[in-house]
Amino acid sequence: MQQLEDRFGRRFHYLRLSITDACNFKCEYCLPDGYKPEGKPRHLQLDELRRVMTAFAHCGTRKIRITGGEPSLRKDFEQVIEAAANTPLIETVATTTNGYRLAEHAAEWQRRGLQQINVSADSLDGRDFERITGDSRFDLVMRGIDRALELDYRRVKINAVLLKGHNADQLPLFLNYIRDRKVDIRFIELMETGLHHDYFKQHHLAGAVIQQQLLQQGWQLDPADKDAGPALNYSHPDYAGRIGLIMPYAKDFCASCNRLRVSSTGKLHLCLFGEAGIELRDLLGSDNHIPELQQRLHRALISKHETHHLHDGDAGATPHLASIGG
Ligand code: GTP
Ligand code: 5AD
Ligand code: SF4
Repeated sequence: MQQLEDRFGRRFHYLRLSITDACNFKCEYCLPDGYKPEGKPRHLQLDELRRVMTAFAHCGTRKIRITGGEPSLRKDFEQVIEAAANTPLIETVATTTNGYRLAEHAAEWQRRGLQQINVSADSLDGRDFERITGDSRFDLVMRGIDRALELDYRRVKINAVLLKGHNADQLPLFLNYIRDRKVDIRFIELMETGLHHDYFKQHHLAGAVIQQQLLQQGWQLDPADKDAGPALNYSHPDYAGRIGLIMPYAKDFCASCNRLRVSSTGKLHLCLFGEAGIELRDLLGSDNHIPELQQRLHRALISKHETHHLHDGDAGATPHLASIGG
């Protein structure tokens, strides 16, 4: 078995698999007008997802993160988790969710094989959360996170996109939250997408601003474990949780890239930004094509670029991150 590797020596053992582009939230920076279905949903069916997962596993993938849109909107979400967990060689099954079904279903998802949960919660102030997401279920999402902690999921993380005018001055609130909770809060720099140039100009804030505040308060950078990917993690002896910074505009961000993405309609994305995606679906109709699928993955990696093109303002091909799962 040959491991997926690119021209720059980066190895890819982590697949982000989007199973729907639909979402029931309206995050200002992502789907401000809500999700507008175009005709019949064209997302990959369970069997097609199984084949994607099998082919990646044969190529060295050990971790699958199920993403969306909102993945739990799919009626067969539980089966998708189970399929991932039952794929030979897959060691870690994770999901990224907006959390609205977590309180009710976290136990069931765990039974099916889910080990790690990342929840998007851009503010811990209920009113601000509602302004950003267009959704009033802040308390439900928070209960979901506590439920996941009770169940002792291997990891629970909160993703907060850093937004000037919203959460940029809410660090104390986040710190207070993780004093006794073993949750990683990750601040993600807002990335420019094809849809929101003006929004980006108004709200983007460099993660370095938070980094400075953390360093001043005695937080220390954890040594990167070999699977860390591009996030920088900080810890402090007085806090149960950690703070992570995802700063795609920082120098060398892409050097530790370890992930590939498959969109909900079956396109391989070598990077979150700046490319249209490589069709896989024609090879997903039967198990017989799995070897060919693997070959296509290996070949595709030859064209992976060293870094994204965000610095050049080149986000045109990515209308919003819901389309390829962030
Ligand atoms: P872990 O598996 O917990 O390390 O999570 P993750 O950071 O891979 O997954 P998550 O879905 O929580 O990612 C949070 C967000 O960070 C993504 O949706 C993206 O917006 C951003 N992000 C993660 N990885 C990358 C990356 O490789 N490139 C860029 N530009 N952004 C990324
Ligand atoms: N910039 C940064 N992060 C984004 N996300 C969605 N759109 C953007 C963007 N333009 C994040 C969500 C979620 C993850 C899946 O992607 O907040 O945490
Ligand atoms: Fe939905 Fe996630 Fe996009 Fe928010 S960021 S609208 S929760 S897909």
